[in-house]
Amino acid sequence: MPPFIRLETSADHARSEALTRAAFWNIYQPGCHEHHYLHQLRAHPAFRPDLTFVCEEEGELAGVIACSSSHIALDGGGRLDTVTFGPLAVHPHFQKRGLARALVCHALRAARDAGEHAAVILGDPRHYGRYGFWCGERFGISMENGQFLPGLQAVELRPGALSNAAGRFHEGFPYAPDEAALAAFDAAFPPLEPAVTPSQEEFRFMCSLGHEVIPNGFM
Ligand SMILES: CC(C)(COP(=O)(O)OP(=O)(O)OC[C@H]1O[C@@H](n2cnc3c(N)ncnc32)[C@H](O)[C@@H]1OP(=O)(O)O)[C@@H](O)C(=O)NCCC(=O)NCCS
Repeated sequence: MPPFIRLETSADHARSEALTRAAFWNIYQPGCHEHHYLHQLRAHPAFRPDLTFVCEEEGELAGVIACSSSHIALDGGGRLDTVTFGPLAVHPHFQKRGLARALVCHALRAARDAGEHAAVILGDPRHYGRYGFWCGERFGISMENGQFLPGLQAVELRPGALSNAAGRFHEGFPYAPDEAALAAFDAAFPPLEPAVTPSQEEFRFMCSLGHEVIPNGFM
């Protein structure tokens, strides 16, 4: 049976944050920031509550995908509004059952139905190609600082939406760590031990793969 997916409500907030913390803990760094980002995102103007979904399994909140507005500042002038998701989290107890797949597909379809043209995210390229994402570089989309990163992933929600979208990607919500605020926020959760893990090294390597484009290549 497909998982039950619905919009997140305020009654879900604490459980969404707890499952996000459980999912991200020690994966990309010792501890994690993502449950705090999720909390902060909901109070940010870029937040898209109409595109933020949870899924339930066995009567429990098992996963969440939170969306926000973002845009590409086009090289040719003007901007293309885009949608971004993150955090995307599935509680470890419910992973590897297709819940992330169901949440991503549901959110992208809902974004398309809401009139969005394209989604741009920062995530593991090994994970997102299966949903139709390409590296932003394919469309000429770089980070705000002009770097092309494999983790900058873009997908058209309408055919051709990114065919003239070369430019710089701007997140609507700044995923910027605030250690003091995080520590205060995290204190309300059950204690967990931060640890160094191999997945953090892998993530650092992935983040180091960015590059700038030299105009005219090697010529
Ligand atoms: C990533 C995550 C959401 C996947 O949830 P899930 O419900 O287990 O995923 P699914 O069952 O839908 O599996 C989707 C596929 O992605 C793969 N996958 C899972 N996590 C992945 C990751 N971090 N990077 C790349 N691929 C991943 C799975 O192995 C699976 O591949 P398969 O279909 O070939 O077996 C979950 O592992 C999680 O919450 N991880 C911690 C937080 C995180 O990394 N979020 C994503 C940030 S980019």
